[in-house]
Amino acid sequence: MSSIGRGYGKIILFNEHFVVYGIPAIASAIDRYVEVKITDSEELEIFDERLKRANDKIEMKILNIISSKIGVDLSKNPIKIEIKGDLPLGSGLGASAATCVALSRALSNHFNLNLRDEEINELAYYGEKIFHGTPSGIDNTVSTFGGVIWFEREKNIERITLGKPLYIVIGNTGIPSSTKKAVEKVRKRRERERERFDEIFEEARSLAYDSRRYLEMGDLDKIGECMTKNHALLKEIGVSCKELDMLVELSLKSGALGAKLTGGGLGGNMIALVKDEKDQDIIAREFEKRGFKSMKVKVG
Ligand code: MEV
Repeated sequence: MSSIGRGYGKIILFNEHFVVYGIPAIASAIDRYVEVKITDSEELEIFDERLKRANDKIEMKILNIISSKIGVDLSKNPIKIEIKGDLPLGSGLGASAATCVALSRALSNHFNLNLRDEEINELAYYGEKIFHGTPSGIDNTVSTFGGVIWFEREKNIERITLGKPLYIVIGNTGIPSSTKKAVEKVRKRRERERERFDEIFEEARSLAYDSRRYLEMGDLDKIGECMTKNHALLKEIGVSCKELDMLVELSLKSGALGAKLTGGGLGGNMIALVKDEKDQDIIAREFEKRGFKSMKVKVG
């Protein structure tokens, strides 16, 4: 018998990093996912097709934590776990969270646990902590629930209904992004420059409220402006890099309404908002002409 579980990738539209400090953030699931397949087996095995690796240490650790939380003894119920998906790893699109969600869902299905989304989310958060240390929980939450969400630590999520769909181009710097490192960098810099960081954090907070209003109204020009402002704030706290800045500049010059890094930063991906599919093609082509991979997504 085999069971499948999926977890979706995400883009953070506003306020990654600030969210770690209790500032509201807005994220959206994207149509790329991680899939986990579980089959009964003679012995416990994890094979990750993305890494082309069996029994990866971190994945084993996550499996052990999640299986113990749900009370499944894998030494008595050996399984084979296969992980695959079209979500690039280590690039700020939530692949680690999506893996934890997919694994929790597949385990729930395989052992007939009927776990609710809230429970899946909680389990995935334990896994995320192994990957990232002190995550805010935004990635596993959006991966579990899907859609566009308003996320604040320790509060219930709110769903955002978009006034208009968003056409987005995701540009990949090709530089691996370590969320853990980036979060640590912000923490250290904030300790040294507390006053300046407090001011930036307050700007990020009010930007979240403005952005939410524009998203609900479907005011694409204003949403774009807010995204570019958000990028400037992220740059100030030190999580951008020259490749991300270059892709942001390039998309703005090529007609995007706004652009920003997305996820942990210091590499990984950025997002550009454009008005329609035609402009998506134009920006994607500009990225690819310069050797950067791109993805086109529609949100809402
Ligand atoms: C990573 O996708 C988002 C960060 O804000 C980290 C977190 O919220 O845990 C950088």
